[in-house]
Amino acid sequence: MKRIKAIYPGSFDPPTNGHLDLIERGSKIFDELVVAILRNPEKDPLFSVADRRKMLEAMTTGFDNVSVDTFTGLTVDYALRVEATTILRGIRAISDYEYELQMALMNRKLQPGLETVFMMPAEKYSYLSSRLVREIAQLGGSIDCLVPELVGQKLREKIDIAHKFENGEQPAGITHPEAKSKFRKKKVKDG
Ligand code: PNS
Repeated sequence: MKRIKAIYPGSFDPPTNGHLDLIERGSKIFDELVVAILRNPEKDPLFSVADRRKMLEAMTTGFDNVSVDTFTGLTVDYALRVEATTILRGIRAISDYEYELQMALMNRKLQPGLETVFMMPAEKYSYLSSRLVREIAQLGGSIDCLVPELVGQKLREKIDIAHKFENGEQPAGITHPEAKSKFRKKKVKDG
């Protein structure tokens, strides 16, 4: 019988309950699902790839058919490398559609054999994005219902470090420009 392996590529900076909702839905329809974190040297993420990987691994321990990996380069090349036939992406609202359609069609142009499958997260996560989570956390709002407990904890640690800089303290192992740039907004759609 044909087994369907899918990848769920993204930035996951940080992973949210919306991502987890999609992973759960994906794990039910695909035989195998790889959550694939893009290692993008041009971006300055809040969390390192290693941190995001650890968080996603902890979030997905309950799913037998879900694994976590990282990749560089084109998503379609990564999909071929791991012998996946499907790319899973989430669509929360119409505003996501244009960007997602463009990406899916470009990926199809690059690799006609790969299919993109869109899934919708639960309605309660339709307004949730990593960018908003970062912003709310930075400004002291509650992120309790937006991210898993472990992610909330890690976010609070980051914010604590940033506040220490603001107060003139120097937390070990981190440089000031690094801390200052951590909460920058992204310009494109942010998962
Ligand atoms: O979570 P995000 O940031 O919305 O994920 C975007 C991602 C990582 C899926 C997209 O930027 C991507 O596929 N990047 C890899 C490079 C690539 O394949 N670019 C061509 C896309 S058509």
